[in-house]
Amino acid sequence: MTDTNNYALADAAHDAELARLRTIEADWDAKTRRHLQDLGVGPGQRCLEVGAGAGGVARWLSGQVGPGGKVVATDIDPRFLADLKADNLEVRRHDIAVDPLETDSYDLVHCRVLLIHMRDPAAVLRRMFAALRPAEPSCSRRPPAARAPAFPAGAAPRPSTAPRRDTSPCSRRSACG
Ligand SMILES: C[S@@+](CC[C@H](N)C(=O)[O-])C[C@H]1O[C@@H](n2cnc3c(N)ncnc32)[C@H](O)[C@@H]1O
Repeated sequence: MTDTNNYALADAAHDAELARLRTIEADWDAKTRRHLQDLGVGPGQRCLEVGAGAGGVARWLSGQVGPGGKVVATDIDPRFLADLKADNLEVRRHDIAVDPLETDSYDLVHCRVLLIHMRDPAAVLRRMFAALRPAEPSCSRRPPAARAPAFPAGAAPRPSTAPRRDTSPCSRRSACG
């Protein structure tokens, strides 16, 4: 575990950690899917799933974006992502707090039960936000729900510290927790 990270279960035994991750999926996947559908995830999109755990959300996203889209599933400990096999799905061992990350690249950036483990969740959120693609000229085709990025209270990037870019929420979709 790096000192950028509070993740207390980084060395948890394989079976116990997998059972815990499966419990999170059983409790949350249905709600998460509804939320991401409301945000407008769909065919052809590029999605980043950060701290993908056992891969339930990444696997589902892979089906949603289809062959013309792409899902990158990252985790500091990707041992439970080895069985994620799809042409449009890439698994990365990656520490969201410190490792290099593309900017202006994704239509959707999502994490769940991750920020609570970060020593500096606002900095992590800024990195994730920067990975989203810049604003498009028109957002009129997006459904209203897609215009509202979901940030945890108080964790959205502040104007004074966020990268200088057009952060119009109508073209930037991020769902984090
Ligand atoms: C509580 S689990 C949640 C897993 C998954 N997001 C879900 O909701 O099913 C937190 C996950 O974040 C990963 N993680 C912790 N610190 C991380 C970091 N700095 N960068 C990337 N992943 C991290 C852990 O390895 C673990 O898989």
